[in-house]
Amino acid sequence: MKHLLKLLDLSGEEIIEILNLADQLKYEQKHGISHRLLEGKTLGCIFQKSSTRTRVSFEVGMYQLGGYPLFLSSHDLQIGRGEPVQDTARVLSRYLDGIMIRTFEQDEVETLASVGSIPVINGLTDFCHPCQVLADLMTIRELKGSFEGLKMSFIGDGNNMMNSLIVGGLKVGMQVSVACPEGYEPDRRVLDFAAGNPGFSMHRKPADAVKDADVVITDVWTSMGQEEETERRKIAFAGYCVSDSLMENAKPDAMVLHCLPAHREEEITASVFEKHASEIFEEAENRLHAQKAVLVKVMGNK
Ligand code: CP
Ligand code: NVA
Repeated sequence: MKHLLKLLDLSGEEIIEILNLADQLKYEQKHGISHRLLEGKTLGCIFQKSSTRTRVSFEVGMYQLGGYPLFLSSHDLQIGRGEPVQDTARVLSRYLDGIMIRTFEQDEVETLASVGSIPVINGLTDFCHPCQVLADLMTIRELKGSFEGLKMSFIGDGNNMMNSLIVGGLKVGMQVSVACPEGYEPDRRVLDFAAGNPGFSMHRKPADAVKDADVVITDVWTSMGQEEETERRKIAFAGYCVSDSLMENAKPDAMVLHCLPAHREEEITASVFEKHASEIFEEAENRLHAQKAVLVKVMGNK
């Protein structure tokens, strides 16, 4: 695996390999077994949007793997003043061993990878959030034992999370059902990928999507960069809250995930959030283990 740009680029087997390595690294870390698999390597972490989990998990992950992370905020980089990504990629390729980037346009990440000569990891774009969904899949397998026979439902915006969950969930063999209001559907590339897969269904009513679900997932109604649409979105997404009454449609032992940050009483009630807090924070912890697995896959000695 050269880069992690989007889950559409990976096979189901490659995703499972990353999850297996993530499980192993989690076990080793919990048992004090050192794994300095990226000794002396450097990772530049470019952030054009805010972050808590992605920034900290990549920085700590690199440190635990024996490497060195550099936090590169677009406020300080010349990229923030308009230096082309093509030039930035060619310069950084001469200093670093890898780049993690969080930005707006998926094209920017793809360009960075095609023009530069070092591995590129997508730390979130408007299109997708592959690192988060690897952690989500890791958490689902950890808590449910396997993906076999599972139904995963996503309620809310057809955003980066919905896009990656549809692709990742179907690739590992789960059934995936989503519910979103009209005009907030997932990306066309994702719908094309899911088309014809009998495991995929899209609904308008959240209750239809979560029927007999084993895993229920949601995310904010207004993603980073869409702040001006907040009020319009609150109206469009009314009725798309993951509440106790909605959860009555899912299986009694259904788990709930949220990539965080969460807005209580918007996309999820405080009651559902707290009932499922142990799952949601395991998911957050698994960002660290999943990110380390991705780093080793793209930057480790082959
Ligand atoms: N879930 C997630 O990516 O969190 P951050 O925005 O804090 O990195
Ligand atoms: N959909 C959210 C995810 C944040 C981790 C956003 O893009 O802001």
